[in-house]
Amino acid sequence: MGKIAPSILSADIGTLAEDIKMLDEGGADWIHVDVMDGHFVPNLTFGPNVVAAAKAVTDLPLDVHLMVEEPEKMINGFIEAGATAITVHAEATKNIHQVMQHIRSQNVSPGVVINPGTPVSFIEPVLSIIDMVLVMTVNPGFGGQAFIPEMLTKIKELDQYRSDHDLQFLIEVDGGINEETIQLCHDAGADVFVAGSNIFGAPSPADQITKLKKLVN
Ligand code: DX5
Ligand code: ZN
Repeated sequence: MGKIAPSILSADIGTLAEDIKMLDEGGADWIHVDVMDGHFVPNLTFGPNVVAAAKAVTDLPLDVHLMVEEPEKMINGFIEAGATAITVHAEATKNIHQVMQHIRSQNVSPGVVINPGTPVSFIEPVLSIIDMVLVMTVNPGFGGQAFIPEMLTKIKELDQYRSDHDLQFLIEVDGGINEETIQLCHDAGADVFVAGSNIFGAPSPADQITKLKKLVN
């Protein structure tokens, strides 16, 4: 069962609560929250208060994607705000193993993210202690970018590694997901599909969620 995780990066911040309720009623599986610090990526977005605001209007899992430098300094705020899962870029910390252990110790689901230029081999040492790998299918920072097709090889490599080592982590993809690329990623082995502009740019975001869901189930 593929899961659809709409990204609220593409939501209207003025009507964020209504937008999240609409995604929930529209059949979203998770809500994806893109946290950007203006350093790791050249854009600045949400803090823990937005996670808390989302928590107040939905029971859906809150999938917090931290695009921040020194994530260890910020993680506790997002845990206290009610994050269900926290994914951290392997490029953003010298202590990715420890960060994953810490998130787990707080009963939050830990995941590791890799940028398009980072190989799967870089995160192999943590694959047995995490719940999810997020494969960036665009360079992080902005919504609405084009999918990078070379990332399909990485998804396949992770899927193979997972079965070879009898592991259960989910594979999530993020960036440039649309009706076409979602099928390519699903065929390659991905389980969770983040989509921002494709959902919010559709005439009916709820119908678009239904459409994407059908393509991966
Ligand atoms: C990019 C973010 C994505 C973004 C995806 O840095 O991590 O979650 O919202 O946007 P689309 O689906 O428009 O590529
Ligand atoms: Zn994201």
